[in-house]
This record gives sequence, structure tokens and C-alpha cells, in this order.
Amino acid sequence: MKIDTRIEKLFSDDIPFEYNTPEYIDQKEYLIDGKICKWDGPMEKVYSPICEFLNGEITQKIIGEYPLLTKKESTKALESATAAFDNGRGIWTTMGVEKRIEHLNTFINQMVKRKYEIVKFLMWEIGKSLKDSENEFDRTVDYIIDTIEALKNLDRDNSRLVIEKGIIGQIRRAPLGIVLCLGPFNYPLNETFATLIPALIMGNVVIFKPPKLGVLLYKPLLEAFRLSFPRGVVSIIYGDGEEVITPLMTSGKINALAFVGSSKVADILKKNHPLPHRLRSILGLEAKNAAIILPDAEIDNAVNETVLGSLSFNGQRCTALKIIFCHSDVVDEFLEKLSLKINGLKIGMPWDEDVKITPLPENNKSEYLTSLIEDALEKGANVINEMGGTVNGTFFYPALIYPVNSKMRVYHEEQFGPVVPVLSYDSLEEPLNYIVESNYGQQVSIFGTNSDNISDLIDPLINQVSRVNINSQCQRGPDTFPFTGRKDSAEGTLSVFDALRAFTIRSLVATKEIDSNKKIFREILKHNKSTFLSTDFIL
Ligand code: G3H
Repeated sequence: MKIDTRIEKLFSDDIPFEYNTPEYIDQKEYLIDGKICKWDGPMEKVYSPICEFLNGEITQKIIGEYPLLTKKESTKALESATAAFDNGRGIWTTMGVEKRIEHLNTFINQMVKRKYEIVKFLMWEIGKSLKDSENEFDRTVDYIIDTIEALKNLDRDNSRLVIEKGIIGQIRRAPLGIVLCLGPFNYPLNETFATLIPALIMGNVVIFKPPKLGVLLYKPLLEAFRLSFPRGVVSIIYGDGEEVITPLMTSGKINALAFVGSSKVADILKKNHPLPHRLRSILGLEAKNAAIILPDAEIDNAVNETVLGSLSFNGQRCTALKIIFCHSDVVDEFLEKLSLKINGLKIGMPWDEDVKITPLPENNKSEYLTSLIEDALEKGANVINEMGGTVNGTFFYPALIYPVNSKMRVYHEEQFGPVVPVLSYDSLEEPLNYIVESNYGQQVSIFGTNSDNISDLIDPLINQVSRVNINSQCQRGPDTFPFTGRKDSAEGTLSVFDALRAFTIRSLVATKEIDSNKKIFREILKHNKSTFLSTDFIL
């Protein structure tokens, strides 16, 4: 196929100085037991989605490498975490909330100093646009600040005794122990921190491994973690999951697993734990969120939200709209406007102003997306938009596919990329059945103007998915809203507040309301003898 000149000239050496590749990052460091250790074993190369021309060939730029640690180092991380938790008696775990917050504030101060480097890594490692990379960074810092505020409120609410049926009690949330955090490549910073920070602040100790893509961006943070937290409270390990993660899970010492990725990998990790009933899992998994465009929908808005929902960060969001059901009365108008809008999206490099579509970081992703389109074409669909599905190296031009049907792979598989499959329907039973039969149950978007029609859909859908969006795309934010899913889409609920609950267990100290017990409680409270049994109020 002849490649259109618009995408043929996409990759060039003309890169603005301030966003040019960091010099080759030979990252040998990892963090275990409060020490930044140097690795001298095998390393893994980091291929950027940004390509260069080498001997006339288009090739992914190699921007650095990171350690491929072994079972030995991950076992050391586990030993150090175990010592730091010390069966619930560790310094961090027994530290008062105000002190823990001070440590988090130290970390924020260190982290914000590294914004420029981290944003640059996000662009080079996963191809995220400058604007979205900055948003990811800022959103993460806000998330930490909001988490601190949520904890203060939680602690204030619990700084009182409850007297019920002759029993005096103090009820708080206590940490679970050792938390293993594994984030995804599409939000390597934000989604990792959305579990790591709440787990930490609640007194757990954490081991984490950066995702396969989006790994070098943690280099500037190693020192920040080392400086901000007591020994063993945070360990950062690198390497192949089977080598470094399996021994952690099989040890039976991981108390909570925070994982964002595929349900297949989540199941393997959970099954590796010898005592699964001791493992709390907080999982963000696949989704195939549908949009339902009703015949009375405001088409321009439906088109704008569909573009945002299906193509922001090239469709690489778990919350992306991954299948569109449009009523047959309006499908022609919808497709025409959607196609125009898609073709108006600016393509280019992450640092280009207003860029919307950038190269894809996953290995062989263009091949996978092409195979989805070929399958759909064989079974009767067409690519509606000009240039849709055109490939140049790691760049894939967004493809609008219509009419899609249930025999096609793209109807079932989560494309996680810039492919927008559209079906037309006559009866609402068609999209409803799709959602009922789907393995996934994260969110849905309904587009319409008639409140009767919309409310008829809200009630059946809210028991199938976890968020019904009206006239807007699916999304996780704002971060104070609960984020979860049904079926194979999630386990547990996250939000600034819910995450504090997810990594803790409600625990209480209780006694019968008699004078001798009251006296003991009074003395403990008066002389601040306990961190848990305390009515101290954070101001
Ligand atoms: O990949 C899944 C993310 O949690 C989606 O977050 O809706 O804010 O892009 P977002």
C-alpha cells in the first residue's frame, strides 16, 4: 500500500531542543531496603514509539535500558518490606497520621521538582502528547494532595469514642500489611500512584514494579522515595513479571494486590498466592464500553464526545468508548460528521502543538489493529474515513469501521487503540443485549435528548455497568467519584476516598462500659499512650 505523504513524513529528526530524547538512559538503579542499589546484570532495552531512519529503514529509537532483576532481588525486597511492617509494629505503620502526612509532603516537594523530566519520559516512552503528559503529572500531584485531605477528614471522623449497648469502642481503619502495586502502561504514573499513595498513607508498606512501558520515568523518583520514607517502606523493583513477581505472590506474604492490566494476568497472580483468602485484590481490568446514540440525540455533541471517548490518547484508555451503537435513523449523518471530525484530528509527535494522534508504544500494535480491520472487512465492513487504518511504523491512522456485526473480532475484542467500530440498530434490545452478554461491565454512554427514553435505559444499564454517562464520554474522573466495574472489568472500588478504605480493614478497640474500664481508657487517652486509641484531632 502506498503511504500517504501526511504520515510518510511523520517521523523526522527535527525535534525541538527542550523535548529531545534524554541522552541514553542507562538506568542501573533500583530501590530496596532504603538503599539505591546498582545492578550489574542483564538489562532490558527501552524502545520508544518515536521512530528514526536508520539505513533507510524506519526503526524505533532505543532510549535507554533498565535492570532485569532476579528472584534474589525481589525476595530481598520482600524481606525488607516484611521487616518494615514488622507484623504491624513497624515505625511507619505505628506512626501517627500527622507524621505520615509530613513524609508524604516531603515526597510531593521532591516529586514536583522532577516534573519536566517525567513529562519528557511520558512522551518518549509511551507517546503521550505533551499536554496529556503534563495533565497526567499534575493530576497525580493533585491526587496525592486530595488523598492527604481525605485522610485528615477520615481521621477526624474517627477521633471519637462510640458508646453502644453498654460497649465503648473506638473504630478506625488499620493497614493490611504488604501491598504489591503494579500499574498499567497507559497511565504509568497516575494509575500506579492512585493505589500506591493511599496504600502507603494508610500505614501499609509497598513493593512496586513499574509497567513494561513507562519504566524509565521512575528514575527521577527513586531518590525522592528513598529520601521521603523510612527504610523498607517503599521498594521499587524492575524486571520480568514471571521472574520477580511470581516469587512475591507464591511467598503468601503479599496482603494486598493492586493491579491494573488484563484479567488473564490478574488471575495468574491471584492463583499464585497460596492462601487466596488472605489476599485483598484491587483490580482495574479490561473494558469494552459502548455508546448508544438514540434517534433524538444531538448529533454534533454525540460526535464530539465519541471522538474524545474513542480516540483520546489514541484510544488507549480502559475507559475509552470501544463500540458505538447508532440508531439507523441517524447513522448516516453520524458517520459523515464523525468521519470528518476524525480526519481533522492533528497527527504528529507528542510535543507538536494540539496533536491528538501519536505513535503507539505497544509491540506489534499496528499489526494487531490491522488484523482486526482485515477481519471486519472480510465480514462485510468498510473503512469509512479517508486514510483510516494507514500504517507507518508505530503510527496507525484512526479507522472508522462500519457496519460492524457480532461475527467480527472487533465486536468482542478490546482494541485498546485508534479503531472506532460502529453498528446501526433499530431496536434498543440490540445494544442492551450486547452489554448483558459482554464479559465486561465498566461504563456506558447514552446520547439523547428525551428524558423518558434516557431514563428507560438508565435503570437496566446501571445494574450491568458501574457508571452510566449521559451525553458525555466514559471517563474515570473526577477522582473523587467511585471508579470500578462489574464482571471482568474490575475488583474493588477506587476514588480518593474509596482507596483509603480499599487498603485498610476496619478495626476497633472495645470495652464494657464499667468504671474500671473507663478509667483505663481515660488514662490511655489523657497521656496519649496509644496511636490507635486516641481522640487527638488533626487541625
Ligand atoms: O485507562 C483507564 C484510566 O483509568 C482512564 O482514566 O478516564 O481519566 O482517562 P480516564
